[in-house]
Amino acid sequence: MKWTPKAVEIAREAGARLREFFAQGVVTEYKGDVDLVTVADWTVEKLIRTRLGEVFPEHGMYGEEGTRERMEQEFRWYIDPLDGTTNFAHGFPQFCVSMGLEQRRAGLKDSDDGTLVAAVIYDPMREELFTAELGAGAVLNGAALHVSETANLAEALVATGFPSRKRHQNPNIHFYHEFTLRSHGVRRAGSAALDMAYVAAGRLEAFWEFNLNPWDTAAGILLVREAGGRVSDFSGRPVRLSSEEVLASNGMIHDEMVGMFEDMFAGRGLGVLPSTKDYAALRAEREMKSKGIQ
Ligand code: IPD
Ligand code: CA
Ligand code: CA
Repeated sequence: MKWTPKAVEIAREAGARLREFFAQGVVTEYKGDVDLVTVADWTVEKLIRTRLGEVFPEHGMYGEEGTRERMEQEFRWYIDPLDGTTNFAHGFPQFCVSMGLEQRRAGLKDSDDGTLVAAVIYDPMREELFTAELGAGAVLNGAALHVSETANLAEALVATGFPSRKRHQNPNIHFYHEFTLRSHGVRRAGSAALDMAYVAAGRLEAFWEFNLNPWDTAAGILLVREAGGRVSDFSGRPVRLSSEEVLASNGMIHDEMVGMFEDMFAGRGLGVLPSTKDYAALRAEREMKSKGIQ
């Protein structure tokens, strides 16, 4: 392995800091409407930036909390020091450190993606370490990972997330509703990187989300691919780090999900959400009956 052994040491150190902050509790600030940030996000990004700079002095870095270093270099780390800040701030123990490495060969346009070559996602609460390098497979705590073999959406457990920025403009609730009705269920656990690691581990059959950033997805994309899964945009085209659309799956239910996205974007097959007013009437009727009033 070329990069992951050193990156793993850094992710473990970062995770240990997150555990300490989590235990002591942190003050939450707002980056936007409901976009939370804590001292843990800043401190841990700084720690990762310093350590990566020491072990890979020639690599660039692009972090959620503002790190932009050596962006002209061939290799670039996408860093999310704390994926799942809202969970973290509420004491809900589902969050991770995510680090993905992209190789950008000379001559590549700024707008084009390079190749994802290494991934580290660390869940410090469960001490689960997910790693991958291009062509070498995906691993969880030393054991090889493989996506699940579930072939139908109807038997799948899937996951999604909702953005904290511009949330009023996001249509995902419709997709959430439809996929809920057509699968074993949709989880919204609050850490996109862990959701993707769980697809790689076969715990989920698929994950999709609108409006993600490269620091959320770079490591997860490589993990899913190396575990035998597929990652694309919602139309089945190659995923792009800047595409703001990610659909990651075990591969077997991918086309079925892409077909559903196509139908839904065209307004086909959308079930009607039950009306809260109709439900309220039923509820009132039940209450009357229970009191013996006809
Ligand atoms: C968020 C998480 C969440 C997803 C949001 C992301 P953050 O990242 O991954 O699951 O739904 O879209 O922004 O802000 O906790 O690093
Ligand atoms: Ca994130
Ligand atoms: Ca984050």
